[in-house]
Amino acid sequence: MLQDQKTVEAQYATADRLNRRISIHEKYSVNRQGFGPWIASHYDFHPGQRILELGCGTGDMWRGQLDSLPQGCTLLLTDASEGMLQAAKETLGTRENVCFRQMDIQRIEAEKEAFDRVIANMMLYHVPDLTLALGEVRRVLKPDGLFCCATYGENGITAHLSRLLGRPVSRENHRFTLQNGRGLLERFFSQVERLDYPDALAVTDVEDLADYLESLSGMADWTDQDRPSVCAALRQHMQNGVLLVPKEYGLFICRP
Ligand SMILES: C[S@@+](CC[C@H](N)C(=O)[O-])C[C@H]1O[C@@H](n2cnc3c(N)ncnc32)[C@H](O)[C@@H]1O
Repeated sequence: MLQDQKTVEAQYATADRLNRRISIHEKYSVNRQGFGPWIASHYDFHPGQRILELGCGTGDMWRGQLDSLPQGCTLLLTDASEGMLQAAKETLGTRENVCFRQMDIQRIEAEKEAFDRVIANMMLYHVPDLTLALGEVRRVLKPDGLFCCATYGENGITAHLSRLLGRPVSRENHRFTLQNGRGLLERFFSQVERLDYPDALAVTDVEDLADYLESLSGMADWTDQDRPSVCAALRQHMQNGVLLVPKEYGLFICRP
C-alpha cells in the first residue's frame, strides 16, 4: 500500500517522476480545458482571502492562474517534500502574495480558522493518517470557508491498462478515491459535493504509456513483462493508430 512513507518520499524527492506523468496528460488529453484550470474554476476566490494549498507538488496546477487571483488574496503553497517545493518555486517564480513552506498535512502550522480556502489536490491518498490530516484541515478552515480536494477514481488509467495487459496492478492505492472520498470527508464536513471531470487520453505512441507506468514505480507495480512486450501488448489495442484510455478524475468541495 502506498501509505508506505518511504515509498512516497522517494517518489516525490524530486519532480522528475511527477513531471513525466503530467507530460502525458498534456500531450494526449482529449478535454482541452485542462484539469488544473477546471479545478481552479471551482475555487470561488474573493478579494482579500487567505488560501492554503497542501501537497502543492510542482505548482503546475497554478501555472497561468496566479494573475487571476482577486485583489489582496494571499497564497501559501506547502508540500512535505523540499524537492517539490523547489520545483514549485521554479514553476511559479517570485510574487509578493505567494509564499512557499515545507509542511506535512498531518501537522499544519497555522492558527485555528486561519484560511478561507484550503486545497489538497491529488495527495490525500498518500497521507498515512487521514483522520489526523482531515482534522487539521477542518481546524485551520474558517467556518464559511471551502476545502477543495481533487482525486482519482478506481476505474481510471491504471485499471484500464491493467485490463488491457491482463495483469492486476499490485499496491494500487485506493485510500482516498472518488468512490470512497465522500464517506471519509463527511466525518469532518457538513456538506460534501462531488464534481467529475470528463476526460480520456488518446495515445498515439505507446512508449509514452510505458514511461507513465515506469514512473509509478513502487506505487503501482504492474508487471513482470519487459518494456517491449508491454508496448507490443498495448499496440494490439490501438484503433487507427490511437489507444483511447479513459480517465477518472474529479473534485470534492467541502463546507464545514
Ligand atoms: C501527486 S502529487 C500532487 C501535486 C499537486 N497537488 C498536483 O495536483 O499536481 C502529491 C504531492 O503530495 C505531497 N505529499 C505527500 N504526502 C504529503 C503529506 N503528508 N503532507 C504534505 N504533502 C504531501 C508529495 O510530496 C507530492 O508533491
